[in-house]
Amino acid sequence: MTVHLVGAGPGDPDLLTLRAANLLGRADVVVHDRLIDQRVIELAPPWTELVNVGKQPGAPGNAQSAINDILIDRGRRFDCVVRLKGGDPFVFGRGGEEALELRAAGIDVAEVPGITSSIAAPAAAGIPVTMRGISSGFTVVTAHTDPHHDPTLDWSALARSGTTLVILMGAARKVQIAARLLNGGLPADTPVAVVHAATTSQEQTQRTTLAQLPATEVVNPSTIIVGAVAAQSVFDPVPAPNPTITSEFTRGAAAR
Ligand SMILES: C[S@@+](CC[C@H](N)C(=O)[O-])C[C@H]1O[C@@H](n2cnc3c(N)ncnc32)[C@H](O)[C@@H]1O
Repeated sequence: MTVHLVGAGPGDPDLLTLRAANLLGRADVVVHDRLIDQRVIELAPPWTELVNVGKQPGAPGNAQSAINDILIDRGRRFDCVVRLKGGDPFVFGRGGEEALELRAAGIDVAEVPGITSSIAAPAAAGIPVTMRGISSGFTVVTAHTDPHHDPTLDWSALARSGTTLVILMGAARKVQIAARLLNGGLPADTPVAVVHAATTSQEQTQRTTLAQLPATEVVNPSTIIVGAVAAQSVFDPVPAPNPTITSEFTRGAAAR
C-alpha cells in the first residue's frame, strides 16, 4: 500500500530511470499528467488502471484536491500506485503537497526522482548551467507564483546573484521577467535561451537577449535560461583549425 511519486523526466522515454520503469511494470494503478509520453505509460501492464488527471487544453484541469482524493482512494485499495509526473515530482510538481496529503491519510509514500527540465532543457540545447570561469551556480525559479500562498521572489536579488537563472513556467510572464531582471540591474544584452519541448520531437531553441525577450515567442512548455552560459552551445561545430598554422606545423614536422 504505497503511492510512488515518480518523475518521468523531461519527455524522451529514454530518460526515464530504471526504478521508474520497474515500478511502472508492476503498477496496479498509474495516475498520470497529460504530457507524459505514451511510450512511458505503456510500460504498465495491460491490466493496470490508467487515470489521466492532466489538464486538457482549453478545459479546466482536475483541481488538486480531486487528484489528492483519487490518490488516497487508490492508495487505500491497491499495493502499488504510481503517481507519474513530468520532470521531477518535487520540482514545481506539487509532489510535496501530494505526499503530505497521503501521509495524513495514513498511506505510505515513496519518491522516485526524475530528470528535471530545469537541467534537461539547457542540456538539450548544449548549455552547461555551470561552467568554469563563466557561471559558478544556477538558480531555478518559477515565474508563475500564487500571490495568495507563495513567498514573493526577489527578482532584484536574482539579478544580482551572478548565477545562471533557469526559469520554469515563464511563457505567459516573459514581459515581467525581462522587466524585473532589467530593473534589478542585469544588462540589456544578457544572453537568454528559450528551450521548448526539450528532448521531444518538437524541441526548439531560440537565442536572444534580455531586452529582446518580450518580443520572442515563448510557447509552453519552455524553459528560459538567463546568463552568460545561455550564449553557449557545446554542440556547435568546432571551428576548423587555422590552415596557415596547420601548414606551418606540417612543414615543420616534415622537416624534422
Ligand atoms: C509545472 S512545471 C513542472 C516541472 C517538472 N516537475 C520538472 O521537474 O521539469 C512545468 C514547466 O516545466 C518546464 N518544462 C517541462 N517540460 C519541459 C520540456 N520538455 N522542455 C522545456 N521545458 C519544460 C516548463 O517551464 C513548464 O512550464
